[in-house]
Amino acid sequence: MARCFVTRRLPGTALARLAAEHEVEIWPERLPPPPTVLRERTAGAEGLLCLLTDHVDAELLGACPNLRAIANYGVGTDNIDVAAATARGIPVGNSPDVLTEATADLAFALILAAARRLPEAQAAVHAGEWLTWEPDFLLGRDVSGATLGIIGYGRIGRAVARRAKGFAMKILHTPTRETDGTPLDDLLVEADFVSIHCPLTAETRHLIDRAALRRMKPTAILINTARGPIVDQDALRLALTEGRIAGAALDVTDPEPLPPEHPLLKAPNLIVLPHIGSATHQARERMADLAVENLLAALAGLPMPHQVND
Ligand code: GLV
Repeated sequence: MARCFVTRRLPGTALARLAAEHEVEIWPERLPPPPTVLRERTAGAEGLLCLLTDHVDAELLGACPNLRAIANYGVGTDNIDVAAATARGIPVGNSPDVLTEATADLAFALILAAARRLPEAQAAVHAGEWLTWEPDFLLGRDVSGATLGIIGYGRIGRAVARRAKGFAMKILHTPTRETDGTPLDDLLVEADFVSIHCPLTAETRHLIDRAALRRMKPTAILINTARGPIVDQDALRLALTEGRIAGAALDVTDPEPLPPEHPLLKAPNLIVLPHIGSATHQARERMADLAVENLLAALAGLPMPHQVND
């Protein structure tokens, strides 16, 4: 029986399966454990089940001599210093696949919502601005037949492409190891919708900067359901304010949460959601299953079913 620290309550029954085999402490609050608490609780643990809101850095790992397994509840692992964990021989697991369709659905919902100005339209109804059926009221942009540029053609990027085919969109994507694609600079010039699906790494931080935004069409819309820091938000705020692009829809921001008084929220033609890409009952329960399966395997001395390091 190993000691495990779980940084939040999770939907479904997976944590009960973990608790049946190990001594489990679950952080009970709605907000994440503060860094000092995370460090103190993990220091006594052999297994850690954490979320993207928990920063597991080299310093924390240095304070956790007994730690044998880290299972992240999510597919991205940018909250964890994976290299430092690898150097300590600690396997790190994630929860891919089970959230692919939910996240792709949300990306497509954002494409449609931004193109057809749904938040503005609903606000207009509530504000009594729906006077009659008007020929030029709340005109948006066609999604059908438009060009979609997908940055990061992995599991989620491909799932978005499958949806886009049903809308007769022309699909461009950045190159992958296995497939040719369209270089980013060309994709930005040609796309009517640019949707981001790459992981956050040192190379992709601020990938969408001022120069990238300048390449986009003035009629184009940027969608980000990946990680906030991939977009330079100051540059995005300026691009929206100056009308250099037509709109943006973000499920992820930098920081998260984005404070209500943040200057970005004053920009026009912007939709911001509170990082709900994988937020369906089914996806979040399956993510818990995978995280627990990863932890149970590693604590039993087996490879994790979904391990991101060697
Ligand atoms: C959510 O953003 C995840 O990485 O799973």
